[in-house]
Amino acid sequence: MTVTIVGSQLGDEGKGALVDRWGGDADVIVRYQGGDNAGHTVVQDGDEYKLSLVPSGAVRDKIGVLGNGCVVNPRTLFEEIDGLRDRGLEPDVRVAKRAHAILPYHRVLDGIEEEAKSDSDLDAGTTGRGIGPTYEDKAGRRGIRIGDLLDPAVLRDRLEYVVPQKRALAEELYGLDLEESDHADAFDVDALAEEYADYGDRLADGMAINCSRFLYARRQDGDRIMFEGAQGTSIDIDHGIYPYVTSSNPTAGGAAVGSGVGPTVVGQGEVVGIVKAYLSRVGTGPLPTELDTNDREEELADFIREKGGEFGTVTGRPRRIGWLDMPMLRHASRISGFTGIAVNHVDVLAGLDELKVCHAYELDGEQLEVMPATTEEWDRCEPVFREFDPWPELDSEAIARTGYDALPKGTQAYLEYVSKEVNAPIYAVGVGPGREETIELTNPFSTNA
Ligand code: IMP
Repeated sequence: MTVTIVGSQLGDEGKGALVDRWGGDADVIVRYQGGDNAGHTVVQDGDEYKLSLVPSGAVRDKIGVLGNGCVVNPRTLFEEIDGLRDRGLEPDVRVAKRAHAILPYHRVLDGIEEEAKSDSDLDAGTTGRGIGPTYEDKAGRRGIRIGDLLDPAVLRDRLEYVVPQKRALAEELYGLDLEESDHADAFDVDALAEEYADYGDRLADGMAINCSRFLYARRQDGDRIMFEGAQGTSIDIDHGIYPYVTSSNPTAGGAAVGSGVGPTVVGQGEVVGIVKAYLSRVGTGPLPTELDTNDREEELADFIREKGGEFGTVTGRPRRIGWLDMPMLRHASRISGFTGIAVNHVDVLAGLDELKVCHAYELDGEQLEVMPATTEEWDRCEPVFREFDPWPELDSEAIARTGYDALPKGTQAYLEYVSKEVNAPIYAVGVGPGREETIELTNPFSTNA
């Protein structure tokens, strides 16, 4: 069976805690989209590991797969793998030959395109990892795939075609003086051909796979597969708040396309939406429930930001904070077909004087219970709030030990409202940052879906 973990909001919902917990019951953990824009921290035997690309299960003796839907920066990949090896681990990471490689020029172009877009307020506040430019090349059929790195002649051919175009883009369109900049090597065919052929040699040594075939064989052998979504539904390239989105599909459909496992297989399994009890946003774009309209709200946002550690894992940027947005969650649940949800960070909301949820939006005199399809309309939405009774500080460890009934009644009312509105049962509640501070109501690997 399969379990797919999906971010329900804007990324950073605390997916890692659940991947970590339920991934223990999986044999293979597969990332199906995104690249080294996805920061996650894994704690194993008291040691902390910060990763942005390698699936967290690889720290726990599981097979970690980067599916064909991912964009893979081989520099980051091997830095992370070598870092884990230096600390005594033997991570088993496989990479789809059909995944696209991020090259240094993608990162350079990510930076300069963002700067150019900022004049028109179109910059997404990217992580600067070259994600968008790499997916652009994939769709433009000029990308370089992991499989191409294994054959130096193919690699050189691809580079000779594409690098002059990238150089022209940087120099002629964006006016960068490459020779005077620090980026000359990023556009040098010889240097790239040599460095990336070396990565190809390492990948050829048992790491590069035909992902679809590999996962099929593992399933035939009875292995359990977890699909680990990165980012979140509202920054999905199709279903998110375009153009303030990432360039892949974090939603559950992406698990099938991005791994080569059939949608019937993914759909017969569990699809768990991970929800943060409030909103946080690391990038730009509208945010109707944002806490920023007056000093009191800004103070509240600062409080939640500090308490929830709301600073970007990859970039360290302070995250914007908002109240929970139900139209956003209904949208997420419909698109991915959630069979269950996990609600994280309820401890962060403890001890507040007031607690609100955006139940619906008001747009042009009408009430909407779902997100509108254009970002311009979303920007004009006024939240229609419902007030909830705030709850006192939680004794998270004791509550996690005792279970759901130990939660304050106010917290239960909040959770049950969310569950009803997204039409999916609660599988878990995160009551603290620690590994054990999660109340589990259902383990999706035990439901025989
Ligand atoms: P990119 O994925 O680096 O191209 O960034 C595009 C948008 O997605 C930006 O608004 C980023 O802040 C956002 N984003 C990318 N990765 C994450 C993540 O892991 N968590 C939250 N936001 C992300």
